[in-house]
Amino acid sequence: ASAQRPEEVIQRYMEVVAGVQDEDCIICMDQLSNASGYETQSTEEGPSVLPDTVGKFIKCGHTLHMLCMLAMYNNGTKDGSLQCPSCKTIYGEKTGTQPKGKMEIYSIGQSLPGHPDCGTIQIIYSIPPGLQGPEHPNPGQPYSCRGFPRFCFLPDNDKGRKVLELLKVAWMRRLIFTVGTSSTTGEPDTVVWNNIHHKTEMMSNLSGHGYPDPNYLDNVLSELASQGVTEDCFKAQ
Ligand code: APR
Repeated sequence: ASAQRPEEVIQRYMEVVAGVQDEDCIICMDQLSNASGYETQSTEEGPSVLPDTVGKFIKCGHTLHMLCMLAMYNNGTKDGSLQCPSCKTIYGEKTGTQPKGKMEIYSIGQSLPGHPDCGTIQIIYSIPPGLQGPEHPNPGQPYSCRGFPRFCFLPDNDKGRKVLELLKVAWMRRLIFTVGTSSTTGEPDTVVWNNIHHKTEMMSNLSGHGYPDPNYLDNVLSELASQGVTEDCFKAQ
């Protein structure tokens, strides 16, 4: 997916709209009736995007300079996906920067507080230290890994198993962890959780990341959805 031309990615998820727009571009803040301040890069492979072209996202309908969106895309991981800067709707498969590692799944007979009689799913994430890639904050520098392997728990019921399947998709798309500064320890250049909450305590709740928590499964489903990971992922494949 990463081999696609950036212009093609933009044109797949945005359509050209004609006529003067009485709105501002959310990226450059200039009026849509004025041209984007970015310069058109001429490419050998085909026509590029012109500065005065206004694009409209095919699902959410937000409009902005196509060239501004192209510049934003080129600044990111260039994974073939777009995110509307207005409403955050994701087009294509968003991927992250999670380093290499292992996700393992086990069954535990004992049940979690608040989820009696269904047993427990245990996820074990193992990530060894390594060197940061170009997608990380300090390419070429090492990253550390604290608290690995990390043990996480889900109730082994229908909803918990659904969350597990979506977490597997998020793992494949490198969305569970990222490299950055830990907000708990302040340590930079380390592997940290990436906005998809996990329950790391099974029978206690000392950290606040334990059970019982009646809203947890719904909360993590919406965190997954905001990364573009929903049940639609299963239909599409
Ligand atoms: N368990 C689960 N999630 C946690 C924990 C924890 N013990 N501590 C923080 N988080 C959540 C935070 O709520 C935040 O949303 O992880 C997110 C990122 O916080 P950071 O402190 O930047 O993440 P990180 O350094 O990866 O983790 C802190 O989590 O699993 C433990 O061993 C790990 O002690 C470490 C802690």
